[in-house]
Amino acid sequence: MEEKVIDETKQGQSLTLEARKGNTRKLFIESYGCQMNFSDSEIVASILANEGFNTTTQLEEADLVLVNTCSIRDKAEQTVRKRLEKYNAVKRINPGMKVGVLGCMAERLKEKFLDEEKIVDMVVGPDAYKDLPNLLKEVDEGRDAVNVILSRDETYGDISPVRLGTNGINALVSITRGCDNMCTFCVVPFTRGRERSRDPLSILNEVADLAKKGFKEVTLLGQNVDSYLWYGGGLKKDFKKASEMEKATATSFSQLLAMVAEAHPKMRIRFSTSNPQDMTEDVLHTMAKYDNICNSIHLPFQSGSTRILKEMNRQHTREEYMQLIDKINEIIPECGLSQDIITGFPTETEEDHQDTLSLMEYVKFNFGFMFKYSERPGTMAARKLEDDIPEEIKKRRLTEIVDAQQRHSAYHTNRSLGKVVEVLIERESKKSNAHWSGRNPQNLVVVFPKEDYKPGDFVMVKVTDCTSATLIGEAIGYSENN
Ligand code: SAH
Ligand code: F3S
Repeated sequence: MEEKVIDETKQGQSLTLEARKGNTRKLFIESYGCQMNFSDSEIVASILANEGFNTTTQLEEADLVLVNTCSIRDKAEQTVRKRLEKYNAVKRINPGMKVGVLGCMAERLKEKFLDEEKIVDMVVGPDAYKDLPNLLKEVDEGRDAVNVILSRDETYGDISPVRLGTNGINALVSITRGCDNMCTFCVVPFTRGRERSRDPLSILNEVADLAKKGFKEVTLLGQNVDSYLWYGGGLKKDFKKASEMEKATATSFSQLLAMVAEAHPKMRIRFSTSNPQDMTEDVLHTMAKYDNICNSIHLPFQSGSTRILKEMNRQHTREEYMQLIDKINEIIPECGLSQDIITGFPTETEEDHQDTLSLMEYVKFNFGFMFKYSERPGTMAARKLEDDIPEEIKKRRLTEIVDAQQRHSAYHTNRSLGKVVEVLIERESKKSNAHWSGRNPQNLVVVFPKEDYKPGDFVMVKVTDCTSATLIGEAIGYSENN
């Protein structure tokens, strides 16, 4: 297994939406990185639909090419650079075409893209998408355009995102932007700015609209969803200055989760990402209370060594993480758990690495995203710590971690043999056009023969076989949810 990204199936895919009549210009938009980027691209496409753009999957016919970028690891940036070279090759044949960089790389490299590299016409940071109409005007008039201003209050709450490349079943709904956690390895607080929460009413409206359109599952998105806090706008860090009234009527993540679940009992609700230091017990009780909130938690732990966690500025110890896992298992039996791990963080010893492996053994995650440490310019770790673990050692440790994860994944899929699980059908299986593919509430992929079922159906499936990552079975009927 190689390093993994959040949504492997869509990375870099150009995605389209339904053409709007009367629109004449063509937009080619590609997204890399986290789910938030995919969600943001839907906001961008929505803004540009009002500017006369329909989306296309044909790079060659595009008037405007936008790439929504990721800076989380050096490798992510290299992938985008290769794409920019490709766009420029096409631009030489089609000089009318304009190229814009969006997202974290735009924010990190700013005017550098225009000044030194001359490979783009437009640079737009994650909080500046509403300025796209003005920026486009600049570009149309032959000037370079840049807006990388980070905002204190932009949540795009008033924009109804168009759904790109949708199956009409699962949708992403962002609930917070930015991150205040300042993990020392992480570039996100610099590229996405301070943490803000979105008005719960606009979230509920968006979910209601999705329900009306027939969507069956929403994932509430944020860099750190547990820290969601709405008190009438403003930054999370300014909450102490809020009025008594605002404090008394503030909405927490568990309250938001309950509101969404209660408003749409037929819809599956997921959320990502949780942070061990901010996850509270009331979230677990809310999950236990509502059947439609999927029993699945993505809970990155990064390292099993308390010493390394401290160097990473994670606000939890190994023991606290284990206690949280115990709490989850107690309150939500059979909860699917997944992780993010960074291996080879500066100063990581063999003993620290063993701590990571033993913590994995303790939890036995369903699946995970495992990475070698990649130094990011400007972060605290880059400024204070030397990237001192040799590549060979990082590689070997990553292999050991990935092997352990594969064993644990297989442990879970094997334990499901003979059981009946509820599956929401999402799409045709990639490996067979005679099978559907969907997920159970614990977020395991399940494939089974199509029969007369269709995407969007909730089906009960008896598990008869498995690989380490996938359950294979046969439908035995509709779920009562259907
Ligand atoms: N809270 C976020 C985390 C974003 S980054 C979320 O919503 O998922 C996703 C993962 O990338 C992190 O959990 C971490 O494991 C990994 N990561 C972040 N910075 C990294 C770096 N400099 N090198 C290697 N991996 C990194
Ligand atoms: Fe990054 Fe840590 Fe926030 S990993 S996104 S700074 S929770």
